[in-house]
Amino acid sequence: MTKTQSFIIENKERFLSELIELLKIPSISANKEYKKDVQKAAESISDSLKQAGAENVEICQTNGHPIVYGEKIIDENLPTVLVYGHYDVQPADPLELWDSPPFEPVIKPTKIHPDGAIFARGACDDKGQVFMHVKALEAMIQSNELPCNAKFMIEGEEEVGSVHLGEWIKQNKERLKADIILVSDTGIISNENPSITTGLRGLSYVEVEVTGPNRDLHSGLYGGCVANPLNILAKMISQLQDEDNRITIPGFYDKVEVVSEEERAEMNKAPFSEDAYKQALDIEAVHGEKGYTTRERGSIRPTLDVNGMWGGYTGEGAKTVIASKAYAKISMRLVPNQDPNEITNLFQKYFESIAPKGVKVNVTPHHGGEPAVTPIDSAGYIAASKAMEQTFGKKPIPLRSGGSIPIVSLFEQELGLKTVLMGFGLDSDAIHSPNEHYGLFNYYKGIETIPYFYHFFANENSN
Ligand code: BES
Ligand code: MN
Ligand code: MN
Repeated sequence: MTKTQSFIIENKERFLSELIELLKIPSISANKEYKKDVQKAAESISDSLKQAGAENVEICQTNGHPIVYGEKIIDENLPTVLVYGHYDVQPADPLELWDSPPFEPVIKPTKIHPDGAIFARGACDDKGQVFMHVKALEAMIQSNELPCNAKFMIEGEEEVGSVHLGEWIKQNKERLKADIILVSDTGIISNENPSITTGLRGLSYVEVEVTGPNRDLHSGLYGGCVANPLNILAKMISQLQDEDNRITIPGFYDKVEVVSEEERAEMNKAPFSEDAYKQALDIEAVHGEKGYTTRERGSIRPTLDVNGMWGGYTGEGAKTVIASKAYAKISMRLVPNQDPNEITNLFQKYFESIAPKGVKVNVTPHHGGEPAVTPIDSAGYIAASKAMEQTFGKKPIPLRSGGSIPIVSLFEQELGLKTVLMGFGLDSDAIHSPNEHYGLFNYYKGIETIPYFYHFFANENSN
């Protein structure tokens, strides 16, 4: 690995300037207006893979945004690492809350990243992390030290639910044959405390529409006499959780995996300061399900959150009106054994049942995803653990995350492959928020660690 590591050190500056170029492309998958930019980002990834020395690089078109594939097969008899990531990004709005434009990357130090962080949409989620893999591959190939086969599958629709990836995987099973899937699209506890993600939550996402009268009404002439959809919607939403912040939908918790007391004790030992947490968010108190710690609430317990709510008059001044319609977008994060379709159905049934006479309710499901847990005794996990221990000088802690990467459960179902979630981001990197950033420490630490993963994984498999 020595030549690889020297190659990385010698090419540090170039690795950064190339990432900056990638971050300039606004590859927002959710917005049709950016379709060309999404394609451009795919081409950029494909070019970088070729530059790294990958073969059979292809931009695979789908009915949505393309998937970039590339591989380096050195010996059919050696194990194969399949890298997954995404080059699409979340929309950047609200733009006015960014300190610098989202697609004009700048490097600035922060309290947590004294050596500098790169500020741009997608810096951490997930272009910066995908690019670590491309550069690590380049370093290994150019140093003639790639210890096993590598395949890359980088998609452009993760942020919109990986709509076409499932179908593509089914059609490309042969080409995707591998021994492990390696993903860097999660994070670590802190730069001093490395961790490996061992679980992701699932997702059920619905939009609700409450309709009252057939038109907007004068709130003086009709106020007090007809159901106001906005009042009703607020009331209905407040009924979805009880005073212990438990979700009231009948059957919602029926299948929830009960995590053992040992595992709970273990996860609560991981470094976490509730005071620092509150301070960073400017809140006086944390809030959540009774009987669980903040760490537990954010990983092993399911949730229900309103992501947006609108209707009626929201312009300047006071318009007196009872709106005809009110809307909300509601997400439920799910834990192992909860089925997203089942939960969506339970939500729909319950939400309709609590609607008073005088309004009509319409529930529209959006994309969802299944939860995933990954084993800590697999060759992949052991390789990741050894690799991080090598570069951080500290054994990483296994920890479940609250976020979702729905495609992970599909990898297992369709390809029969386990996933290792070896991400390098921090919760404070503001992914999906204004001023998203990625620490230079984390970017370089990732590039340094990945070749060790290949090394230890090849060794684990030859034992
Ligand atoms: N990379 C994130 C998920 C993530 C981040 C997991 C940090 C663990 C730690 C991914 O890009 C993402 O944003 N997923 C979405 C779901 C998707 C269906 C839009 C999410 O979790 O909201
Ligand atoms: Mn991501
Ligand atoms: Mn994301």
